[in-house]
Amino acid sequence: MKIKSICCLGAGYVGGPTMAMIAAKCPDIQVTVCDMNQERIDAWNTNELPVYEPGLHEVVVTARGRNLHFTTDIRPAIAAADLIFVSVGTPTKTYGIGAGRAADLRYIESAARLIAEVSHGHKIIVEKSTIPVKTASAIRTIITANTTSECTFEVLSNPEFLAEGTAVADLENPDRILIGGETTDSGKAAVEALAAIYARWIPRERIITTNLWSSELSKLVANAFLAQRISSINSISALCEATGADVDEVARAIGHDSRIGPKFLKASVGFGGSCFQKDILNLVYLCESFGLPEVATYWRQVVDLNNWQKSRFVENIVRTLFNTVNGKRIAILGFAFKKDTNDTRESPAIQVCRDLLREHAHLAIYDPRVDRASIHQDLSDAKIPASLIASNVEIHTDPYAAMKDAHALAALTEWDEFRDLDFKRIHDLMFKPAFVFDGRAILPTAKLKKLGFEAFIIGKGR
Ligand code: UDX
Ligand code: ADP
Repeated sequence: MKIKSICCLGAGYVGGPTMAMIAAKCPDIQVTVCDMNQERIDAWNTNELPVYEPGLHEVVVTARGRNLHFTTDIRPAIAAADLIFVSVGTPTKTYGIGAGRAADLRYIESAARLIAEVSHGHKIIVEKSTIPVKTASAIRTIITANTTSECTFEVLSNPEFLAEGTAVADLENPDRILIGGETTDSGKAAVEALAAIYARWIPRERIITTNLWSSELSKLVANAFLAQRISSINSISALCEATGADVDEVARAIGHDSRIGPKFLKASVGFGGSCFQKDILNLVYLCESFGLPEVATYWRQVVDLNNWQKSRFVENIVRTLFNTVNGKRIAILGFAFKKDTNDTRESPAIQVCRDLLREHAHLAIYDPRVDRASIHQDLSDAKIPASLIASNVEIHTDPYAAMKDAHALAALTEWDEFRDLDFKRIHDLMFKPAFVFDGRAILPTAKLKKLGFEAFIIGKGR
């Protein structure tokens, strides 16, 4: 089966960039990206894309208007497609059974119902969103119950492994593509049809095919293993601070062991992002559901350690600033969950800032990409009065303005530009002693010390 037309439900951080790459690589395939969110679709049709990713604009411009289209007109796009990617959000449930752990599948379910309502002929439905294991069977059940026998379909799992900030490079040259499908003849044909699309630019040996459940589970497990490495090194960062060891030196020493490897060993104020915590909680819920409490507890600890790392960072700030930050101005450098993205989902900066606000600190926040509205929305919390946010949070577009009259600065995102700030100027602007809390170990420590800063570096101590 040759695919001529693709539709993608969900124009978010995954759907938008992934479809742009497919369209750029396959000019003969029509790719339509749909979303109910008119504002988001409008932005995809301008030069101010809703997602900031280095290199993405160039990829979008190559194909937009030719074979890449962004629309809110979802039904005709589904009807015309041979293959439909489902790339809608799957947030953690905040209510009812499994609250705080299970994935909320309402967007997946409504997408499946819509596909059933609109489809004719044969369709391949591809799960792109990260979903709990066995979601493919739920999609199949919904569609079977709502279509006539003339309509045939296959459900595939094709999890996305791109990381934000490097999405374009990851899509262009991925470590692997994973496709899970049924082992029936039509299942195998569907897997091959999707594999043939990726094979236009990705070597065949990197396209792995498995059964549906292995594919769905592999996505959760890959993220759990990556996050586990960060929690492991972050646990050691606390020990390094206590003993005088340097966590970067320890990471370098162990990372040279080819069995361990050097990646994902950078100690930090904590991991963030839309995937790690959500996927681990999902895995935990899955283990509990299958009667494996020991396995659930093992993985749960990765998230618990991450929360502890954020709390202890704030406690250190408060303790160092003579046990009170009440009314003190703290400059926050970086709000995104990592560099090179405007995404703040689960960013460690959210918990750090909320905890500091509960201590009545005055925050002056600077991030090169995150907008004011996102920061305000992220900081709103039932436990923090809106009036406190209004009076104690300033958002700056100039880092030096944030630093003026600050008692301390806290670096929470590893933006490259922070390394090259004029620290002499910053020292002059700040109250003395000028405290620095580097939650990413990226600032030039020797220079800071020479200038007279009181610097605390994660995993290195004072
Ligand atoms: C992750 C996975 O890497 C990707 O394969 C999957 O598709 C989605 O989830 P992402 O969340 O975009 O990608 O970014 P990633 O680079 O993995 O970073 C996640 C968090 O871990 C960030 O907050 C980052 O700052 C932090 N991190 C990463 C560390 O603290 N230390 C490290 O060594 C690496
Ligand atoms: P991700 O990081 O997984 O891409 P996002 O939240 O950035 O997640 O994007 C998911 C997008 O899916 C949102 O823009 C949301 O409006 C969209 N969406 C949710 N349900 C549907 C649906 N049934 N049809 C089309 N788009 C949908």
